[in-house]
Amino acid sequence: MSVPVLELDDIQSGVLRPRPTPFAAVYIIFRIEDRNAGRELMGRLSTVVASAADAGPARDTWVSIALSFQGLKALGVPQSSLDSFPLQFQQGMATRARILGDVGESSPEHWEKPLGSTDVHVVLTAISPDTEHLETALDRARKTYRELEGVTAIWRQDCHVRPDEKEAFGFRDGIGHPAVEGSAVPGTNHKERPFKAGEFVLGYQDEMGGVPPVPQPEILGRNGSYVAFRKLHQRVAAFRRYLKENSSGPEAEELLAAKMMGRWRSGAPLALCPLHDDPELGADSHRNNDFLFKEDDPIGYKTPCGAHIRRTNPRDAGIAGVARIHRMVRRGTSYGPSLPEGILEDDGVDRGLMFAFVGAHLGRQFEFVQSEWMNDSSFFAGDSAKDPVAGANDGTGIFDIPKRPLRKRLQGLSRFVVTRGGEYCFIPGLRALRWLADLNT
Ligand code: HEM
Repeated sequence: MSVPVLELDDIQSGVLRPRPTPFAAVYIIFRIEDRNAGRELMGRLSTVVASAADAGPARDTWVSIALSFQGLKALGVPQSSLDSFPLQFQQGMATRARILGDVGESSPEHWEKPLGSTDVHVVLTAISPDTEHLETALDRARKTYRELEGVTAIWRQDCHVRPDEKEAFGFRDGIGHPAVEGSAVPGTNHKERPFKAGEFVLGYQDEMGGVPPVPQPEILGRNGSYVAFRKLHQRVAAFRRYLKENSSGPEAEELLAAKMMGRWRSGAPLALCPLHDDPELGADSHRNNDFLFKEDDPIGYKTPCGAHIRRTNPRDAGIAGVARIHRMVRRGTSYGPSLPEGILEDDGVDRGLMFAFVGAHLGRQFEFVQSEWMNDSSFFAGDSAKDPVAGANDGTGIFDIPKRPLRKRLQGLSRFVVTRGGEYCFIPGLRALRWLADLNT
């Protein structure tokens, strides 16, 4: 079958292209008070957004733009068009809180303002190789929106990816990426078939075999995608204490951490080195994601079925359903300073992950993984356990580690990751940005 021709020059770069490492990034949220000013902003931003056809960014900084449902409304997008967007997007992330496990201290009433409110309209992300380049780029961007009365920047989050790509719990992140047909961007698992482009970009055939309807008019929907961004606070001290209290020494502690994640902190997968860490393997992008589960480890003796990476991507493991229709592109970046090594008491500083899902289906990709795979275990016939790293545990969580002759069951897991807010946004193609700029309703 022929590979679809993806209109790379119309797709925002952040949908398909990986980022540099290390990098500094910023999220800025805008509220549109005046629709004409909002349209003017769309027009100006359409000239600085990088497309997936660009090998590098304009002037060292990649800029992406996404709009919430409220943002499209604030721009005066016609009602018939608004109605053509999927329900999850129309409702917004805060309304979906229960499904997402955002309850208790993670519930929207505790979110950082203005996250979860109807004021979140436009989300700009800028990424540079370092803070210096980022600030220069932001100075230029500020001129763009400061002169615009009727559009206000209401929130900013600075983020970064460290040179060793480790997130706040100390694990190497950013390893697993799917290959997308026609994008020329390779995936990181050579054993995983490339995905139909329609899984990640609207207007193309997807893994279900057809081309799903795109939001209307076609010029607005085609080449767009969705992003679910979430500010996830990480309780690093509590995570460390849990590891210490549930293992018999530093080596056992590292093994437990690896069992919970499915990878050693170096990124080396348990699937390829189940007994000890192998930092060289962890850093080798040709080998560190080159594995499946079914033949080699159906029970989970190496990588427990409930480990974070096996839940969020069971690969070819025997599960209820078809794993391929729940894959996602992730664009995670850390925020806040690291907690110094060895500290076991919380220092009160906010740190964590600005998680970003990118895909064409908020429902069957992001929400499904978050609710069914992360916060439930029936898909692999497990108990009522939740993801041991990022699940909505409440102090009574369990985690099973398959072992001969008897499995080991850990108890008393609490929430190590608290949701501080987030939103569902649409990432328009470049032509769509100009269409939004030219609206005259
Ligand atoms: C603060 C919360 C989180 C932390 C610390 C975290 C950390 C990690 C780490 C260290 C990896 C392994 C590196 C890699 O495979 O790239 C990973 C993989 C992954 N995570 Fe998370 N994650 C978090 C939240 C989430 C959420 C909310 C989702 C989805 C709803 C998610 C989905 C995934 C997926 C799909 C993978 C790739 C699995 C694979 O392909 O093997 N993660 N995560």
